[in-house]
Amino acid sequence: MLTPCDLVIIIGSSILLVGYWINATTQDTPSQVVDPIAPSRTQEDAVLPTALPQSTALQRKTNSALRRYTPRTPGLRHLIRPQNDHLWKGRPVHALTFPKKGHARGGRNRTGRITVRHRGGGHKRRIRTVDFDRSAPGQHYVERIEHDPNRSAHIALVRDAKTGKQSYILAAEGMRAGDVVTSYRAGLPKELLKDMGDSVDMGVIASKTAMRGNCLKLGMIPVGTPIFNIAPNKDSYGKFARSAGTHGIIIGKGEDVVQKEMVKAMGDTGTLDIASLSQEQLIKFEKAANYVTVKLSSGEIRLIDKDAIATIGVASNANYKYTSLGKAGRKRWLGIRPTVRGTAMNTVDHPHGGGRGKSKGDKVPVSPWGVPTKSGYKTRPKHKINRLVVQERPRNQGKRRRGYA
Ligand SMILES: *[C@@H]1O[C@H](CO)[C@@H](O)[C@H](O)[C@H]1NC(C)=O
Ligand SMILES: *[C@@H]1O[C@H](CO)[C@@H](O)[C@H](O)[C@H]1NC(C)=O
Repeated sequence: MLTPCDLVIIIGSSILLVGYWINATTQDTPSQVVDPIAPSRTQEDAVLPTALPQSTALQRKTNSALRRYTPRTPGLRHLIRPQNDHLWKGRPVHALTFPKKGHARGGRNRTGRITVRHRGGGHKRRIRTVDFDRSAPGQHYVERIEHDPNRSAHIALVRDAKTGKQSYILAAEGMRAGDVVTSYRAGLPKELLKDMGDSVDMGVIASKTAMRGNCLKLGMIPVGTPIFNIAPNKDSYGKFARSAGTHGIIIGKGEDVVQKEMVKAMGDTGTLDIASLSQEQLIKFEKAANYVTVKLSSGEIRLIDKDAIATIGVASNANYKYTSLGKAGRKRWLGIRPTVRGTAMNTVDHPHGGGRGKSKGDKVPVSPWGVPTKSGYKTRPKHKINRLVVQERPRNQGKRRRGYA
């Protein structure tokens, strides 16, 4: 149970913490994690109206982190790739990979029927074993950043400073060879606590731990910090926000909300009588204090256990979304086969099939199995409510859905 004295300490430390973050954003401290997408976009947008549209477009082209090619062949004309000159050009660490099985099956199951459409061919590849768990404590040196054929983000080869063991972790945007990353999953190291003496100040802890690439429990990360590779619960490993450029943002902590409520309950008297709170209220407070509110890249706002882990920063290769493959064959190299439109099929093959010309009539778009497929149609059963979702992601670009409610 919290005594009023404890409360004062908690409130005091949270004020310190806010102070630290204001400092961190104004000064350029190493712990500052810069969102590579948002700030630059807002700056550029601010410049646009004053400059001539064409010249800005040109400037953007030359300044951009994307690589275009002289059209020596038709396939190069529309090829656009993010510039990633820092990537390792050699092979991966063989011991940390295994061959991809079933590559030649082309999406067919044991009985030979296609169960995953649009699969087949593609370059031979080995699967990199990526450590999403980050359970090894202590410092790890980043040896190099590598491409991973099985994901859009990059991976970092790290070496444990104590044991010398190598492993792959998901790279954060801006992470480079020579960086040092630490996982605090097992708790704070003794040296850090000793340095601080008797007083345990959350702000000071955050300033020493919340740095790019470090793995922390959500409860230890300051509000407003971008995070990626987020675990859904405390026993799990990183699962959310793993693809290139994605990240979540901690927008609130249950502890803070409970604190506010308690201060309100204190009123003018300045003291809180725990006995005056009902059992129900106490249980509610206890539950609420266990969660952290995170906004994910999709726009979904979700509660996550405060002991679940996440990595500080943004998943690497943020410019991946501007890639243009330039020719159909490059898609085939990735192991993806052509997708035929439903309206181009016969009636037996697709609900949109058949008929004269290219019309599908005034019908709601559906999948080959008749399930509506556009405008954010929800397939989750109504009774299976996910109680951890505070606010659903916006569907159909936030616009009204057509044809069904
Ligand atoms: C393979 O897929 C077909 C079609 O979906 C299905 O009928 C069959 O039972 C599957 N076989 C196995 C072994 O799962
Ligand atoms: C490839 O990556 C995806 C996404 O992270 C993962 O779900 C899948 O299991 C990986 N494939 C293999 C064979 O590890």
